[in-house]
Amino acid sequence: MDSAALISELEPTAGRLLDRHLAQAKEWFPHELVPYSKGRDFEPGYEWSPDEAPLADEVRSSLFVNLLTEDNLPYYFRTIEAMFGRDSAWGEWSRRWTAEEGRHSIVIRDYLTVTRALDPVALERARMAQVACGQVPEPTTPHDGLVYVTLQELATRIAHHNTGKVVDDPVGYEVMKRVASDENRHHLFYRDLSTAALEIDPSSMVVAIERQVREFEMPGTGIIDFETHARAIAKAGIYDFQVHHAQILVPVVLRHWGVEDLTGLDDEAERARDALVTRIDRIGKAGRRLARRRAEAEEQAGAGERVPEPV
Ligand SMILES: [Fe+2]
Ligand SMILES: [Fe+2]
Repeated sequence: MDSAALISELEPTAGRLLDRHLAQAKEWFPHELVPYSKGRDFEPGYEWSPDEAPLADEVRSSLFVNLLTEDNLPYYFRTIEAMFGRDSAWGEWSRRWTAEEGRHSIVIRDYLTVTRALDPVALERARMAQVACGQVPEPTTPHDGLVYVTLQELATRIAHHNTGKVVDDPVGYEVMKRVASDENRHHLFYRDLSTAALEIDPSSMVVAIERQVREFEMPGTGIIDFETHARAIAKAGIYDFQVHHAQILVPVVLRHWGVEDLTGLDDEAERARDALVTRIDRIGKAGRRLARRRAEAEEQAGAGERVPEPV
């Protein structure tokens, strides 16, 4: 099925899911969550130091990547609008989605500026670099696009929520949790659209799922030093292979979409499904192995720091 036919056939579902989204999304205000009374002016030329807000480096990495990802969403809008079109429920959804995402960068940036958790100069320079390079994943078909955003919104939800848990501040937790719950609604919109697409055009969807799982990258590619930050985020268990496997690939791809039980696939889709199931299994094994190694390394580091017993 070609792209235009799929988009037009899915339009009533997009409309129904948009109505569900609007009914479930409660209005909220970034300014009510940010502790402005903690804020102080920044003199020009002021030099930030990490002592201002003691936080583990990996937590700072995660806050940095999560905020820059939100900042870069105008480019996601470009891709989404080009893929789904600007008319009907599709257009209404992509504009509404963009407005909600804007709220996320507002609340996270205001929180980080007031609490001085990140160097504001480095952050602003990184934002300029990130947005100026305009790098985003650009799926080639709407099938791929639906699968990618389904996985990406859930990944973002998990990353925000897990960051909130390690930020060691109830206010910070609340900020990240609020953002994460929006991401969850975005995920559900796309997940259920993809489910409908699987019924309409199962073979092309399975091929797209295999490709997107194989090529998946966390939103944030293009951020300065992204690899280093991604490693730190994985090390902290905020987002790693194990999380990706257990909280995204298994519940969404295997359970919700039930790819192993789909029938009537063409030969290409059958081959894609086999490769997909094998890959998911491999990612799970790699995730468990890496988590085990990390735990062992931490144990050894902890043992090294222990005060020796008196002889
Ligand atoms: Fe967001
Ligand atoms: Fe989102």
